[in-house]
Amino acid sequence: MALSAFRAEILTVPHDPALAGEGGIRHWPDGLLVVEDGLVVACGAFAELGARFADIAVERFDGLLVPGFVDTHVHYPQTDRIAAHGGHLLEWLDRHIYPAEAAFSDRGHADDVAAFFLDELLRNGTTSALVFATSHVQSVDALFTAAQARNMRIVSGKTLSDLAPGNLADDVVSGRADTEALIARWRGRGRLGYAVTPRFALVSTDAQLASAGDILARHPEVLLHTHLAETAQECAAVAARFTDAVDYLDVYDRFGLVGPRSIFAHCVHISDRALGRMSQAGAGIAHCPTSNFFLGSGLFDLARADEHGVRVGIGTDVGAGTSFSMLHTMGEVYKVGQLRGHSFDPFRTLHLATAGGARLLGAGDRIGSLSVGQEADFVILDCAATPLMARRTAGKRLAERLFALQILGDDRGVAYTYIAGCRAHARALL
Ligand code: GUN
Ligand code: ZN
Repeated sequence: MALSAFRAEILTVPHDPALAGEGGIRHWPDGLLVVEDGLVVACGAFAELGARFADIAVERFDGLLVPGFVDTHVHYPQTDRIAAHGGHLLEWLDRHIYPAEAAFSDRGHADDVAAFFLDELLRNGTTSALVFATSHVQSVDALFTAAQARNMRIVSGKTLSDLAPGNLADDVVSGRADTEALIARWRGRGRLGYAVTPRFALVSTDAQLASAGDILARHPEVLLHTHLAETAQECAAVAARFTDAVDYLDVYDRFGLVGPRSIFAHCVHISDRALGRMSQAGAGIAHCPTSNFFLGSGLFDLARADEHGVRVGIGTDVGAGTSFSMLHTMGEVYKVGQLRGHSFDPFRTLHLATAGGARLLGAGDRIGSLSVGQEADFVILDCAATPLMARRTAGKRLAERLFALQILGDDRGVAYTYIAGCRAHARALL
């Protein structure tokens, strides 16, 4: 494949500014990104790179070029249940979500929703995601097939849920056999990865949780993806069932599910002990602010996770989450911080939504920073996407424009999305 080059204002945040300060930020007001065979071969100032790549055709953009967003927790089968009214988590699951997920035993339906879902991610500048499917094998096959067709880096897995209602219930033996078959079927195909996915402690028997731990131990390349400590009512139910466990995290720990490949969504009601254990184990948290607001789950304490040195990414958690936009979700991370007494820096939230999320998915060497050798997934953001955004950002310095994109922006702020150097989405003109 020939070289291709993209000239724009470029911003990447490879290292967490909370730890590295401004040293974590790379910014070239007039930058050049050069791509060959889907990989970054150079990224830096046009003044320095322009002469070296003088004979390549260059695409030029007015917008801000940043790495593609990484959504670290989202449910594709809930796409059609976003904005479903009423109830906290457990009631909402019963009323809206389990009935909707039952329909994914039908491959045609799964194909249809998977295609829409992935196109929606691309419209929002999300190029990688850790995705819940349903307990049906065909729901994973549909998503992986659609992701492979789009060359997207997607990690997913069938949910394990032998205590779930109706056709969402698998059993220990079939859950394990289906998981093993999916791992074998999809291993090494495209840019896909597998996550062992017990839905949450309340819908799996002890035997199934133990089986999940065993599968995880046997497959060093797969992740573990589940929910943890999302609502007070859920935590009380977990405490009532698992009377021997010290806390909710300990339930998973006892079954071998807490380690460096584990990603736990939410962690709103989490003890210092559990955060300390997650830090020690190298486990990560997917912070899902729009979901926590929508379900009334509570406020995740990012500063406390920081104190314990726990890795954090950002998740939209659609359908409890209310937007596929990672820009919008970054703005909500800021608002949760405000309610907890912290004004998080916009470069930090961009880091969490890109390189930080990539690291959570075990792909920090492949995506998230546009460093040389990484896969060239990137987006062109438009600070002037709406008249108000144009007025608010005109002539402003980078930090102010970036913050405005997070507070005022959504899919309209994403002009183009590129996957491995190829254009995958172009916004229609407003
Ligand atoms: N806990 C168990 N299942 C779910 C789900 O589908 N969404 C959310 N937000 N939390 C869960
Ligand atoms: Zn979720």
